[in-house]
Amino acid sequence: MSKVTFNVFRFDPETDAGPRYQRYEIEQAPGLTVLGGLLEIQAKTDPSLAFRSACRAAVCGSCAMHINGQYRLACEMQTEMLGATVTVRPLGHLSVIKDLVVEMKPFWDRYKEIKPYLMPGDNPPEKEFIQSCDDREKLDGGIDCILCSCCYNSCPVVGTDPAYVGPAAALKADRFLRDSRDRAREERLLLTGGDHGVWRCHTVFSCQEVCPKDLNPTGAIADLKLGAIKAKLGLRS
Ligand code: SF4
Ligand code: SF4
Ligand code: FES
Repeated sequence: MSKVTFNVFRFDPETDAGPRYQRYEIEQAPGLTVLGGLLEIQAKTDPSLAFRSACRAAVCGSCAMHINGQYRLACEMQTEMLGATVTVRPLGHLSVIKDLVVEMKPFWDRYKEIKPYLMPGDNPPEKEFIQSCDDREKLDGGIDCILCSCCYNSCPVVGTDPAYVGPAAALKADRFLRDSRDRAREERLLLTGGDHGVWRCHTVFSCQEVCPKDLNPTGAIADLKLGAIKAKLGLRS
């Protein structure tokens, strides 16, 4: 059976002088994923190797990492599609806690800032909201985000401005802007339109390119910009 080489970023800031790459060789197998390989290395060769994972089904978003030149989910990337060597390093804009595990707080802080929940105003219905099928359809493409942060880490603006709202948070804000039950349009446009808001986006589409769920954060950002312009001109959206 053929072998596949894993070239894995290793760094423990508490004990190491600097980062290094460590090579591991494992058996190639049909359907072997990058996450499967890392789990095998951890179980059989090197229990000190640190990485995050949970669902193993491209649902939880925790196994996002940089794999052979692109941000991807380790659990859905099959090694057979990557060639003889799989080079793995951590998410780029976040500090390393250990090996492939990064500090996600800056990502979550941006997400919290846009108030990622329904704001129904002062008079919500007593029992439940009724939403038409057409209005529900408007949320398609905005509700499937698994918060893996691939888009955030691929964004060049996040790299130069850590306070930039970023594509994932913008996508979520836009999802609520399109929600017929939400009554916080003005506040959402203010939250995403400040000095570190959507106007900083360079529209280079990196976020859209890497999204493992084929979502369109760049389009959401354009939508938020349009909403802000219309609000400024007193036009209805
Ligand atoms: S928009 Fe896509 S890439 Fe960004 S966090 Fe959501 S699922 Fe991940
Ligand atoms: S399109 Fe905007 S948000 Fe997306 S990666 Fe580029 S600069 Fe960042
Ligand atoms: S382990 Fe959950 S998305 Fe990969």
